[in-house]
Amino acid sequence: SCSPLVLGIETSCDETGVGIVRGTRLLAHEVASSVEEHVRFGGVIPEIAARAHLQALIPTIRRALEAADVTLDELDAIAVTAGPGLAGALMVGVSGAKALAAAAGKPLYGINHLVAHVGVGLIDGVRPEAWGDALPEDLGALLVSGGHTEILKVDSLSTDVTLLGSTIDDAAGEAYDKVARLIGAGYPGGPVIDRMAKEGDPTSFRFPRGLTAGKFVCSAQEPGKHRHDWSFSGLKTAVSRAVEQFEARDMQVPAADIAASFQEAVADVITAKAVRACREHGIRHLLLGGGVAANSRLRGLLADRCRSAGIELTVPPVNLCTDNGAMVAALGARLVMDGVAPSPAELGADPGLPV
Ligand code: KG4
Ligand code: ZN
Repeated sequence: SCSPLVLGIETSCDETGVGIVRGTRLLAHEVASSVEEHVRFGGVIPEIAARAHLQALIPTIRRALEAADVTLDELDAIAVTAGPGLAGALMVGVSGAKALAAAAGKPLYGINHLVAHVGVGLIDGVRPEAWGDALPEDLGALLVSGGHTEILKVDSLSTDVTLLGSTIDDAAGEAYDKVARLIGAGYPGGPVIDRMAKEGDPTSFRFPRGLTAGKFVCSAQEPGKHRHDWSFSGLKTAVSRAVEQFEARDMQVPAADIAASFQEAVADVITAKAVRACREHGIRHLLLGGGVAANSRLRGLLADRCRSAGIELTVPPVNLCTDNGAMVAALGARLVMDGVAPSPAELGADPGLPV
């Protein structure tokens, strides 16, 4: 059919997401998060996430079907995140989706989580009107979350997505979580530091911007590394040293100034390198995705730098930037519309699935 009805399931990290689309129209978008269960550990615990998915998956599917007012029988296809992500968490979604597809006799599409984040750009209301029904040719995507920091070039969502750069150590959101712990700000670190930073001076500390000007990793010498990669481990170490220096002198740690200076370093290096990658690869339209897309400074600086570089920036609503099933459903529907064959019956979860 030209507007296939597709249910999408996402369980790669700590969000159990189920979305339903008809073509590019979003009908349901339900998310159950286990983030509260990870707070006391200061990070996502894989076993806890997997068990929470097991408990939440069927009720979340039910809620989505009710919200969209459709039955399993009416679906044209089921889509599920097959990777990358946490092995146990992914396995819950993939096993559930396989069972559902087999029982209801529906084709099943295994979806790449990173490409699904870009699939958000297909959804009516997110997709700029000027794009018409399709995605523009010179499209890129910047994904920044607790699990990933990537810049992608998107030539075709179904066949041709290229990784231009990614973090070689921590994801940006992970750096936020670690720095929040260092300055005693709690978990998840992103929103807390974003708030604290508003009370601080972003110029009070000059924290390092990893892998910038003159220090590019040369892809010829180091295969697997890219010119547009990021590194956040040096930044995290610099923050840790700053904190230690105050503590060693029994001085109060200037948490707000550190938060603001850290946030400035993250936003600066992410946006500078993303825009440079866009320039070098002729990307004229950039889509932002991932939980760190909620960050006020990142949004502001990226908007400024895209404007200066003549790049059209699309920022989806935050609840479609964080992990969700709607993006999986939207990409699944695109694959059906493009005539892509469903995944084989032996589809498995692949924690390290490349784009
Ligand atoms: O996309 P997401 O929900 O899950 C992952 O794929 O990880 O992103 C969660 C991450 C967490 O690390 C959280 O600290 C970060 O997004 N985050 C933020 C903000 N809100 C959430 N980081 C910076 N500023 C924010 N306002
Ligand atoms: Zn994600």
